[in-house]
Amino acid sequence: MTYTMKKIAVFAAFMVAFLITGCNGKAQESAPSALDVIMTRTSIRSFTGDPVSKDQLETILKAGMAAPTAMNGQPWRFVVVTDKDRMASVFGSGPRSEMFNTAGAVIVVCGQTTSKGRPFGQPDGPEQEMPNMFWFEDCSAAAENILLAVKALGLGAVWTAGYPAEDRVAPIAAALGLPDNVKPLCIIPVGVPAEDPAPKDKWNPDNIHWEQW
Ligand SMILES: Cc1cc2nc3c(=O)[nH]c(=O)nc-3n(C[C@H](O)[C@H](O)[C@H](O)COP(=O)(O)O)c2cc1C
Repeated sequence: MTYTMKKIAVFAAFMVAFLITGCNGKAQESAPSALDVIMTRTSIRSFTGDPVSKDQLETILKAGMAAPTAMNGQPWRFVVVTDKDRMASVFGSGPRSEMFNTAGAVIVVCGQTTSKGRPFGQPDGPEQEMPNMFWFEDCSAAAENILLAVKALGLGAVWTAGYPAEDRVAPIAAALGLPDNVKPLCIIPVGVPAEDPAPKDKWNPDNIHWEQW
């Protein structure tokens, strides 16, 4: 093989590798489709104890904040705890607490239940504290987006109940220093899964009423 032919062969090999791996040098993995993520998400309650990076958490929270909200009100607030000792002391003594002792992070999805505004039909009236009527629905949509983003990143999580169970709300609100008008809707431990449960098949056509009940 002449020197020029060798150079061409090396260049061709480089181009093939570039096309296969992309410019970042990593093998291209095809991302799961949105439907795959939705259909295969399942609650994960056992974690390896490995950390979840800040980049991953920001991606997950961005997904949460991409959810729809009534009148685009975005009443969600998030408290993220990553410090292991703090996770154990705030969440680690309740029921099924082992998941909070092995998660990489805990995201508390909170809703701001009121905000300053003017009553409907009084555009020039004084501002007052008004209820955010749909905070519960808005924050639930964010929580589901969070669970799906966690799954899409290859991590695991479970929605654990907060509001309206007062026995769960009061200790969490006190430990996290939430303002009176901010309620913890759910407490989501996030981590590297240490279990691989099969997704539950919940498809039931009997729950659907086409055109009319
Ligand atoms: C409002 C709500 C409250 C929940 N509370 C808890 C909880 O306190 N502890 C828990 O382990 N799982 C909790 N879950 C998770 C459910 O048990 C789980 O989603 C359900 O069994 C279906 O399983 P899947 O998520 O694997 O599809 C809750 C889910 C929702 C939506």
